[in-house]
Amino acid sequence: MATTDGVRGIGHSVKRTEDARFIRGKGNYVDDLQLPGMLHLALLRSPLAHARINGIDTSKAEALEGVVAVVTGEALAAHNLAWMPTLSGDTQAVLATDKVRFQGQEVAAVVAEDPYIAQDALELIEVDYEPLPAVVDPRGALEEGAPLIRDEKEGQADNRCYQWEAGDAEATRAAFESADVVVSLSTHYPRSHPAPLETCGCVADVSAATGRAVIHMTSQAPHAHRTLFAIVAGLPEQNIEIISPDIGGGFGNKVPIYPGYVCATAASLLIGRPVKWVETRTENLISTGFARDYHMDGELALKRDGTMLGMRVNLTSDNGAFFADAQPTQFKAGLFHICTGSYDMPAAHVVAEGAYTNKAPGGVAYRCSFRVTEASYLIERLVQNAALELAMDPAELRRKNFIPKDAFPYHSVTGFVYDSGDYQAALDLAMEKVGYQDFRREQAEARAQGRLLGIGIASFTEVVGAGPSRQYDIAGLKMFDSAELRVHPTGKAILKLGVKSQGQGHETTFAQIVTEELGIPPEDIAVREGDTDNTPYGLGTYASRSTPVAGAATAVIARKLREKARHIAAHVLETSPDDLEWQTDRFVVKGAPDRGATIQDIAFAAYTNHPEGMEAGLEGVHYYDPPNMTYPFGTYIVVVEVDEGTGEWKVLRMVAVDDCGVRINPMIVEGQIHGGLTEGFAIAAMQQIVFDEDGNCTGSNFMDYLVPTAWETPRFELGETVTPSPHHPIGAKGVGESATVGSPAAYVNAVIDAVAHLGVRNIDMPVTSARVWEAIQAARGAA
Ligand code: CDP
Repeated sequence: MATTDGVRGIGHSVKRTEDARFIRGKGNYVDDLQLPGMLHLALLRSPLAHARINGIDTSKAEALEGVVAVVTGEALAAHNLAWMPTLSGDTQAVLATDKVRFQGQEVAAVVAEDPYIAQDALELIEVDYEPLPAVVDPRGALEEGAPLIRDEKEGQADNRCYQWEAGDAEATRAAFESADVVVSLSTHYPRSHPAPLETCGCVADVSAATGRAVIHMTSQAPHAHRTLFAIVAGLPEQNIEIISPDIGGGFGNKVPIYPGYVCATAASLLIGRPVKWVETRTENLISTGFARDYHMDGELALKRDGTMLGMRVNLTSDNGAFFADAQPTQFKAGLFHICTGSYDMPAAHVVAEGAYTNKAPGGVAYRCSFRVTEASYLIERLVQNAALELAMDPAELRRKNFIPKDAFPYHSVTGFVYDSGDYQAALDLAMEKVGYQDFRREQAEARAQGRLLGIGIASFTEVVGAGPSRQYDIAGLKMFDSAELRVHPTGKAILKLGVKSQGQGHETTFAQIVTEELGIPPEDIAVREGDTDNTPYGLGTYASRSTPVAGAATAVIARKLREKARHIAAHVLETSPDDLEWQTDRFVVKGAPDRGATIQDIAFAAYTNHPEGMEAGLEGVHYYDPPNMTYPFGTYIVVVEVDEGTGEWKVLRMVAVDDCGVRINPMIVEGQIHGGLTEGFAIAAMQQIVFDEDGNCTGSNFMDYLVPTAWETPRFELGETVTPSPHHPIGAKGVGESATVGSPAAYVNAVIDAVAHLGVRNIDMPVTSARVWEAIQAARGAA
């Protein structure tokens, strides 16, 4: 239950604490940091996608005034640092020694007195490359005879980087045999990039005197990075402090460990001075973790009346030259097997294989819980095609197959246990808001006049909050999370977390959880994240895991402190703990509500008048291991108008109904949804990292890789339903990624709906005007 207006706990749109510094331009980012004696590092990157390195001549660069050192892979190899482990159990070159494997790969590092000298020196390094054929198409990469990319890996005879499957092949085959109708869809979910406003970077400061390494870095997972640094660099872990200061957006891009971090740390270690490395925009776009790039063949088996019988998927993921995103160890294709979505699917089978190609490594969870976005897109597009095939209304087809709300917890055939859901309610509300039935009439009338209107639905299901540690780990590190809470004598508190905000508003929302549990106003609670010396261990913030895991840890530790507070209050009030009851921000004597002790009174007593035999203070830490994931869901409906002559399409309406369980801060949740819907729109309409046949990346700047502005971005109409997670202490589910996961299919379905009567069944994203126009022409030609 929400606390009173005065205290402003859960359910209140408390203004964001962090904005006080952000809107004044007083944020503290990695590149703001200036340390005495600091040097600057720049990376030489390969111009070729695939080439043998026959030699590197650094003499001219070394001779440039102001250059302190030029580091090559060979120099790193002497310290066993030329290669590093990735978060997916692969290896990645820090600086290339034998070959370059993608355009933009790190080949050498210059350390100089200022960043301009470092850049100038890069041009003086001479690398003798022997070009090799580039492997750009992932399916071609898996064919026999394709040039071998990872020839340095022992036992690696082809370009396959993993093979994985989920579900039941036999049951699915039987389901397809008994089907009246099978619909299929082959589609490519394009390679996109999270493109955070702040690029990646670090300032490494390793003291020659003490051996202590303080590394300020743009990290979404500072604790995991500390452990990996200890393993990679062989530094004792107690001597490493990772500090993630303010971060200007991460969206998954700041989860992997990049060669720049390792080079700067190694340089600082060897030179004995602090070293800063900060990427340019182009470096960020061509070399750091991209997302998606899934080639998917999906099939849905149905009865003639629309009942779903089974789903089958074959997919190939393009992982680039190194398998370097963070993937839970057991799940090589992430959580793609949530692909049965919101539907009661009797059988399903997914076969996934990953290909090494001569492209930048990645496949990061870009506002996505490890490949849920691709899965959600596939099923929601298949459902639309099934509706067309069966001549059924797509809303009716969904309704007929939804997991009923009384069927939770629901065991899916691919191994998930959905905690809760009411898909019907979200669909109904979205349809009501958009005026679905009226629109269908309007659409028919418009068509008669030669105007093409379309409406697209996506009823997505998410799975977030990794994880139960029995199933989920990253590079062996179990996916729990933690919260440490200290209440000071004056009743003010400090909350320290293992997760790390990149703009999501944790300083506000996590304080509100404490407010809800202890009655301390949010402005009296400081939230600290990102400094590994001063926060408890955690796996970091990505895949919408902060609220489901660290949010739960926060509620649990606050409750533990409340129990201790009960005993202190009983001592102060000279009564028995059992005679007390909690009211918003105080314990009162049952039946005598004017006799009580506020949380501030109790906090003071904890340090000045605590009961004999009890430890002083009011503080504690909790490590929370969730019993299950949480399953946010929703329905998005998009209305578009397509110009038949040019293929141009415009969004007329965008209605988004989300259910993320109990909302801690409704304003922040809406902000998360607005951001996600914009990113979903960008992917559906305009974004793609493109390569030519030689592996040249042709989307390496914001002229080519399009980030939507306010001009193109649709107006969003939001709605909510509330289905609390039964196992989460405050009933919350994550929301950070839902809109990016759920919305692309709604946009694309709307465009297809507008032109389906012409025979169009698929247009791959990004759905550009040219692609729409071509699809219309092709359908006409076929008719
Ligand atoms: O892990 P990440 O912070 O990216 O995602 P999240 O846990 O889904 O949370 C995003 C933001 O929305 C955080 O500030 C959350 O505390 C807030 N939120 C909320 O207020 N209520 C929810 N039910 C879920 C998230």
